[in-house]
Amino acid sequence: MNSILLRIIESIYVLIPAGFANMAPVLFGKFFSFLAKPIDFGRFYKGTRILGDHKTWRGLIFGILTAIGIVAIQRFLYYHDFFYGISVINYTKISVISLGFLLGFGALFGDMVKSFLKRRIGLKPGKDWWPFDQMDWVFGSSVFLVLVYDLSFRNFLVSIAVYFVLHIIVKELGYFLKLDKKHH
Ligand code: CTP
Ligand code: MG
Repeated sequence: MNSILLRIIESIYVLIPAGFANMAPVLFGKFFSFLAKPIDFGRFYKGTRILGDHKTWRGLIFGILTAIGIVAIQRFLYYHDFFYGISVINYTKISVISLGFLLGFGALFGDMVKSFLKRRIGLKPGKDWWPFDQMDWVFGSSVFLVLVYDLSFRNFLVSIAVYFVLHIIVKELGYFLKLDKKHH
């Protein structure tokens, strides 16, 4: 495979568990209501909620569990030549739980940092803050991944760039195909 294309696919593949972690809070949004308590326990910082009601323990917990599940699948797929070829991590040498936790927590931590900043600049929970709402989980998970799994800073930049372009392409396509009303 062409090496630039391979680098792009590798950087997408390694963060897929984080991407699913980011979707998990919405997918599990109707279950386990007793866990839907705000992470900030309703507390305020200088008169404004620290994170707001949209950041719940349920989202965090299911995000992490989902990422662990996806890493377990990636470990299984690693024995297959194609997936071996697009892996930057040797999934047989790492702990599925550790890597899953790192990517899931990283994704949701990025999401929390973003919400913290949104509250500080006065944006209400759920208000759009492009492109940070879309990219927060990529930042969070790739920072943790690069630091803990000894990948280079270049891997980090490539992930950000690739997911940003991917996001634009998917959104434009959705808009073009009239699947999506919002233009980003
Ligand atoms: N969610 C959650 N717990 C989390 C993260 C997300 O329960 N830790 C759920 C919430 O229902 C949230 C939805 O997932 O409304 C979408 O999350 P996101 O778009 O990241 O948050 P926003 O609604 O935009 O809230 P904020 O303005 O605080 O970022
Ligand atoms: Mg989010």
